[in-house]
Amino acid sequence: MQQSDVLIIGSGIAGLTTALKLAFKNPNLSITILTKTIENESNTRYAQGGVAAVWDMEVDTFEKHIADTLDAGDGLCDESIVRIVVEEGPERVREIIEWGTRFDKEKNSENYDLGKEGGHSENRILHYKDLTGAEIQRALLAKAKELPNIKIYEHYFAMEIITQHHLGYYVTKLTPNIECYGTYVLDKETGKIETFLAKVTVLASGGAGQVYRSTTNPVIATGDGIAMVFRANGRIENMEFVQFHPTSLYNPAVESRSFLVSEAVRGYGAILRTSDGKEFMQKYDPRKSLAPRDIVARAIDNEMKMRGEDYVYLDCTHLDEEGYIAHFPTIYEKCKSIGIDPMKDYIPVVPACHYVCGGIKVDEIGKSSILNLYAAGECTSTGLHGANRLASNSLLEAMVFGHRIHEDILENINKKGIKTNVPDWNAEGTTDPKELVLITQSWKELKEIMSSYVGIVRSNVRLKRALDRLHLLYTETELVYSNTTVSPQLCELRNLITIAYLVTKSASIRRESRGLHYTTDFPKKSNRLEISIL
Ligand code: FAD
Ligand code: SIN
Repeated sequence: MQQSDVLIIGSGIAGLTTALKLAFKNPNLSITILTKTIENESNTRYAQGGVAAVWDMEVDTFEKHIADTLDAGDGLCDESIVRIVVEEGPERVREIIEWGTRFDKEKNSENYDLGKEGGHSENRILHYKDLTGAEIQRALLAKAKELPNIKIYEHYFAMEIITQHHLGYYVTKLTPNIECYGTYVLDKETGKIETFLAKVTVLASGGAGQVYRSTTNPVIATGDGIAMVFRANGRIENMEFVQFHPTSLYNPAVESRSFLVSEAVRGYGAILRTSDGKEFMQKYDPRKSLAPRDIVARAIDNEMKMRGEDYVYLDCTHLDEEGYIAHFPTIYEKCKSIGIDPMKDYIPVVPACHYVCGGIKVDEIGKSSILNLYAAGECTSTGLHGANRLASNSLLEAMVFGHRIHEDILENINKKGIKTNVPDWNAEGTTDPKELVLITQSWKELKEIMSSYVGIVRSNVRLKRALDRLHLLYTETELVYSNTTVSPQLCELRNLITIAYLVTKSASIRRESRGLHYTTDFPKKSNRLEISIL
């Protein structure tokens, strides 16, 4: 059994900023971070475009950033949360710069080189080449290493949130005051399941893109935190709003993660074209290639379907070569590695699942509906994104909520204690898996179901089909889970089935098209603004 004051699940931007702030302010707090693979593998690491923040106050204003975020969110943002994130954001960015994060500056100048992305009315994206996330994670991890009260456990897989349920009480969605005491954790190296107890737990477990066949998210993005909270009867919302990034690199070679061609490339002047070289975005939105993501992704999907083609093109051939390579060295190299020279050839691109806007419902200080359980970052639904996330708002959101959570923890930690009578994990009656192939095949089936029936365009029939098939997968997997020694693959499959259910069920409850949710049965927006809660 391990004990600490604060237990944080996740070593991406949300987990690390929360931990660093706590550790700086109170060196006596013991802070444990669990991460299921290596410490820098996360969605954060792959963020390309940058962090949106109002920086150049002579041109940009908080009101403009707020208006852009509300516009993208299509009526479902919580305006008070949008204001909090936008107004507190620049201060949080300044802090990570103080902690060693580098952002690109204009040539021969001390001014930051502010980029533009879809849906932003001003240049406000701070970035480090096309490697912003990797740079932020590098700086935060380096700082965390300097602080002796932060301990990072790599290859430790959090399986379940411990609540009264594990003490033998009957807990349902209606139970008042469900409490979190920590988590059961699988040590991937020894195969042992350990109990990690804490006064407070922070879920910073990231996204769930792996629920689709094609995604920009790395393999760790299996929605574990969201699924754990759902199983623990906590509140989850807005899961139907899955963001497909319009431009992932089309690559017939199978990769676990689709390579992203950042929206910043379009911000830099690249143009979307069909295979005959014609521009098409003017048919869909006056902002053309720089319209918000939902509009661009749907337009590409429509063009591909109408033409029976597997991709559209991104044309960068007219852009200045030196500037392009300086801004997008990773994208340039990746294209070259598969025989595409972005300065001479069009880049084939296709939408891919990128971000789940919904998640664990938290309040304005990051508290979930379960006591002593906070959540931050991509696993949450804060109210910032509404029905569609504005580009580069998520790194900002993670930092703002990490800060707010740390303040609340510091104020209240002395009133909290560690639960002592928590039983060890019960693995009685389980045996080693006989047919691993069943787990891998179920993963594949799950991704197929979601990609075929719950993608960019939905309908009642498709969603019903998906729910029926998911039910079968759920039943089969629960049977395996109840009598097999647990493995990370099995836990992840279980979590992804839960995510798939949450997305599909929420989509079928929403009887309108709004933001990222588009259904042919209800193509219009309804007058009622509703959050879908499960
Ligand atoms: P993550 O960074 O994903 O970290 C999750 C952590 O949780 C990992 O350490 C993981 O190991 C751990 N974890 C998960 N489950 C478990 C478990 N069961 N047990 C133990 N540990 C666990 N956003 C922007 O604002 N700007 C951008 O330019 C941008 N570009 C992007 C490009 C790509 C390719 C992708 C995929 C995303 C991009 N995003 C961008 C989104 C943004 O990167 C993420 O939303 C953000 O980094 C999420 O941070 P996080 O800390 O919440 O989660
Ligand atoms: C991108 O660089 O296009 C991704 C930005 C984001 O997802 O916020």
